[in-house]
Amino acid sequence: MSIQAQTKQQLIERALNIRERAYAPYSQYNVGAALLTESGEIFDGVNVENAVYSMTICAERNAVFQAVAHGHRSFQAIAVATDNGGSPCGSCRQVLSEFGPEIVVFTISSDGEIVLETTVRELLPDAFGPQDLAST
Ligand code: THU
Repeated sequence: MSIQAQTKQQLIERALNIRERAYAPYSQYNVGAALLTESGEIFDGVNVENAVYSMTICAERNAVFQAVAHGHRSFQAIAVATDNGGSPCGSCRQVLSEFGPEIVVFTISSDGEIVLETTVRELLPDAFGPQDLAST
């Protein structure tokens, strides 16, 4: 399903706005994510760091977990806003892949430019997924 220009713009703005709430005192790398559900709702997420560094959660996974907690399991797209349009990390690719390799991914720089427009499948080809556990 293609995403309408207006919805895409809305998603990008949500990611840019929520990025201001990122808690990243250690890396100073603020990330905001906005996840569009199949039904058209948007869930936000930010990275939340911790003095025990490895406890940090990324913005993308934060958004996915919030959406799932609210009953959503099908997603159309995610916009990820960072300073430089950085790409989702491997863990976030895996978590997004669980819910759909066709999810469209936009990475956005702080000036609102789309740096990358791709899909989860392209970011994580041949992913391990639910199908691999089907026969167990
Ligand atoms: N980060 C994200 O939130 N998403 C990613 O996909 C890449 C990394 C966060 C984690 C950490 O708080 C900071 O960016 C630097 O790695």
